[in-house]
Amino acid sequence: MSTDAIVMLREGHKEIRRLIRSYRVEGRTEAVGPFLRALTVYTYIEREGMYPRVCVLLPETEPEILSYIEEHHIADVLAAELYDMRPGEIAFDAKARLLMDIVERHMDAEEHRWFPRVRAGVGRRELQEIGAWMTRLAERAPQRPRRPSVHTMWDAVAA
Ligand SMILES: [Fe+2]
Repeated sequence: MSTDAIVMLREGHKEIRRLIRSYRVEGRTEAVGPFLRALTVYTYIEREGMYPRVCVLLPETEPEILSYIEEHHIADVLAAELYDMRPGEIAFDAKARLLMDIVERHMDAEEHRWFPRVRAGVGRRELQEIGAWMTRLAERAPQRPRRPSVHTMWDAVAA
């Protein structure tokens, strides 16, 4: 598997989109568990691995990165609440759909606006190194959503 950071994150997006489609189009509530797990790992490696490095290597994209961190934060809140719910509960479907809408919007923005700038502005070798680092982070990533703390969400980029 390639360790190019952008390729890796795009693969994560693809898996997340497949699970969103499975829930939305095929009505598979059993896709929500794997969706939340994939989302948790993806947001963790991106927040701990990708954002802090790109903030240093390409500081002109920092405003975008800060808005992505805010989007992750909202997604984390909804994901943690959804994790504690069961399909059929009154707000389950509304919450799942809102979370999926936010995550899709986030992935679209990264793919169309941010990844091209990162690809153009960060060297291939650095992206390989970030990818290798994210591969190691993925091995110790949390497997389920946790309610985020607003006080710790900035730590990775502020470090
Ligand atoms: Fe992201």
